[in-house]
Amino acid sequence: MNLRDSGFTVIVGNRKDEYADQAKKDGFQVFDIKDAIQKSQIVFVLIPDEVQKEVFEKEITPYLKKGDTVVFASGYNYFYGFVKLPEYVNVIMIAPRMIGWGVRDLYEKNMGFPVLVAVGQDYDGNAEGVMFSLCEGLGVFRKGGVAVRSSFKEETLIDLLSEHSWAGSMLYLFRAYYEVATSLGASPEAVILELYGSGELAEIADSMKNMGLFEQLKTHSRTSQYGQLTRGSLYITQEVKDLIYKEAIKILDGTFAREWAEEQATGLVVFNRLHEMAREHPMEAEEKKLYKILGRR
Ligand code: NAI
Repeated sequence: MNLRDSGFTVIVGNRKDEYADQAKKDGFQVFDIKDAIQKSQIVFVLIPDEVQKEVFEKEITPYLKKGDTVVFASGYNYFYGFVKLPEYVNVIMIAPRMIGWGVRDLYEKNMGFPVLVAVGQDYDGNAEGVMFSLCEGLGVFRKGGVAVRSSFKEETLIDLLSEHSWAGSMLYLFRAYYEVATSLGASPEAVILELYGSGELAEIADSMKNMGLFEQLKTHSRTSQYGQLTRGSLYITQEVKDLIYKEAIKILDGTFAREWAEEQATGLVVFNRLHEMAREHPMEAEEKKLYKILGRR
């Protein structure tokens, strides 16, 4: 929608599903993926990373023409070589640091957003120019936006490392906090509101974005600041730093990507089981009750 509103001619290639219906409602012409590829010069690949290998092999790569440009929104498949492209196309990456509706919302507010960009393959010498023109069309360079020169490798590393370290550990840290606090007599609903249910966490994240990681501390009470500054670092032992390093290497050397590919090929048994186990925790039932009262479920 951003590109269309900026004057690009945009068509959608989509399998027949609710996304295709939505695209039609939004006024786009929708084609089968292979037909859309044949009608286009620039192809944005906006489908989940885990399905890209197969979709490329069957519906994209055979229909690419000399001088076409393939745009990835993440580094994953091209970096690991799951998707291999012919030498006669340009390959670029424009990877927003936010979810799709954020990209659209900011465009509508006439604001920019941050992206990581990289040229993977420059067939005709125009790849970089095309990349920055597309950034312009997407609205990246408006106020508040920036394109950071990156690489498919860097984007893959920092994206996955975020997911594997602080984002993943936060879920289990919250759970550990819940177990301790409720064992000491705190009520589940008070704990869940304290941790994430109230929305304070989102406000802190917003302050970090606007003010800076430590600068935002000043918006908290002095008691809170003192507690965070003296106790926070106690949890980050050398062992934790070593773990982050080891997991970063498993991203770079492809161990994680191979494990994830095997997991998908063998029917997502572990993935589904872990989701089930997460739901079996008593905190989930308490959350459900609370969210019903709050009208969120
Ligand atoms: P998504 O969930 O938004 O993908 C939905 C689209 O994929 C729909 O058009 C759907 O029809 C199509 N699709 C799904 N399965 C398909 C299949 N088997 N065959 C053909 N089409 C299929 O995708 P997601 O994971 O959110 O992201 C798409 C790309 O954008 C990825 O490369 C991702 O890394 C990147 N990205 C995603 C961000 C996010 O916050 N979700 C942020 C920045 C980049």
